[in-house]
Amino acid sequence: MSKYWNKTINETTPYVAGEQPKAGEKVIKLNTNENPFPPSPAVAKAIAEFDASQLRLYPDTNATPIVNAISEVENVKPSQVFVGNGSDEVLALCFQTFFEKACDTDLPVLTPEFSYSFYPVYEEFYRIRPKKIPLREDFRLDPSDYKGVPNCGIAIANPNAPTSRAISLDDIAAICSANPDSVVLIDEAYAYFEENYETAVSLLPRFPNLCVVRTTSKSYSLAGIRIGYAIASEELIEGLLRARDSFNSYPIDRLAQAIGAAAISDTEYHAKCREELIKVRKYTADELKSLGFEMPESSANFLFAKPPVCISAETLYKNLRAKGILVRYFSTPGINDRLRISIGTKDEMEEFIRNVREEIANVKNS
Ligand SMILES: Cc1ncc(COP(=O)(O)O)c(C=O)c1O
Repeated sequence: MSKYWNKTINETTPYVAGEQPKAGEKVIKLNTNENPFPPSPAVAKAIAEFDASQLRLYPDTNATPIVNAISEVENVKPSQVFVGNGSDEVLALCFQTFFEKACDTDLPVLTPEFSYSFYPVYEEFYRIRPKKIPLREDFRLDPSDYKGVPNCGIAIANPNAPTSRAISLDDIAAICSANPDSVVLIDEAYAYFEENYETAVSLLPRFPNLCVVRTTSKSYSLAGIRIGYAIASEELIEGLLRARDSFNSYPIDRLAQAIGAAAISDTEYHAKCREELIKVRKYTADELKSLGFEMPESSANFLFAKPPVCISAETLYKNLRAKGILVRYFSTPGINDRLRISIGTKDEMEEFIRNVREEIANVKNS
């Protein structure tokens, strides 16, 4: 608290990012859902070929090289794409542009009971009234729970984080149809890791109130470069551009624009990494189940696993941390009996499983 800060800053509890290891610390990092594979070789080439003398000039405000790459891969018009500095920035601008009016109407924004922990921060920051919609058994989201509930917006991560469960395009269409006066934000940070990958982008011609948000952090192995984007109707994109230009007209630097465009265009490499990740996810889920863990079927690059009764999630998290293996533990009631485990390389997951097995053997023998 400070008398020099405004009311909102004094009253907002900021987001706490997952632990980042100290420089030089050797860990197996399975706590922030990064992609375990390196970015496309096209990224290294784009960096090698980058002309540093260009850095004296401001970058293209709209990140046109990235917009064009997305427009081609997703088969949408460039005017339907908005690029920001990581999807966290894009999501923040969406909450501000589409939901902040909740202050005037006093209607809430609907989010699933357990979801991305940045959403409540945006709600506090923009003074939006939150309404959490309970999930059903095994963290299933039922689209009928989003019908007939007065709201001024809806934000859903699909697949959801940290639960790892996805809803279908029919479910999303039902939510958009039932709420024609609200923007429905579908955060697809993890959509590319679904076994039967399908994106809500294909619903855009039917729903002018749908806004799909994506990131290059996870599926393109570019968490270190900070590129996120929204794909939506031109009307919604224009709103985001107005918000951006009232805040920071140059969110994506020149090097990031070259890197992002190169990565997004390399669809072949992207698909190969995805296939491998899905295989390692299956291996990890099968091994954990054989050790007595329970978890929903994952559509993401992480598992949301409940350890067997002999060891609590918190103890396992702490013991693994002591051995240099980082996973994510949330103390929130309702999910504090689970760990969110990002999928690493096959070698990393074998080492992870070996350590989990050891921990369980230790408690059983004590
Ligand atoms: C559901 C979800 N959305 C968005 C993000 C933010 O991604 P980024 O800001 O790296 O693009 C994350 C990051 O963990 C996430 O879990």
